[in-house]
Amino acid sequence: MKIFLIGFMGSGKTYWGRQLSQKLSIPFFDLDEQVVSHAEKSIKDIFDQEGEEKFRLLEKDLLHIITESHDSFVMACGGGTPCYFNNIEYMNQAGTTVWVNTDMDILFERLRKEKAERPLIRDLSDDQLSSFITKKFSDRRLYYEQAAIKVGEEDVQIEKLVEEIFHV
Ligand code: S3P
Repeated sequence: MKIFLIGFMGSGKTYWGRQLSQKLSIPFFDLDEQVVSHAEKSIKDIFDQEGEEKFRLLEKDLLHIITESHDSFVMACGGGTPCYFNNIEYMNQAGTTVWVNTDMDILFERLRKEKAERPLIRDLSDDQLSSFITKKFSDRRLYYEQAAIKVGEEDVQIEKLVEEIFHV
């Protein structure tokens, strides 16, 4: 069983991914953490020193490596993962994708406090952050919508989610 949690930055993929992996007793991977440990530098440093394109390539390579070397896992993807290359088709073929669709107001409040670690938003004022979320979310929505399962973060109930995953 291979489960991929997708959704915007700050949507709670890592938190819910850990909960789900514990419930299912299968390993958990955070794709951002895997990229950082493979590159031996922070995401911010990868963006600054090597550019976003290099980050996207590394992200894709690690997505493939983990998916192909494990039979079962829950993976929290980065917010952009499903939107580059053919990653969303790849994940849909390899396993079950779940879109954690969190309200924009909640995203804004969370991201406002956690801007520093995220290269795409760290230099934005609050007003700019708000427009960024609206614009980026509308660009990315068509990728997130391709998930097999969609769940509002406020409705995530692990038992129900597990049931849905088994019935896809
Ligand atoms: C990104 C989201 C981040 C990380 C990188 C780019 C994006 O992951 O992969 O900063 O393009 O939305 P989180 O969604 O875990 O913050």
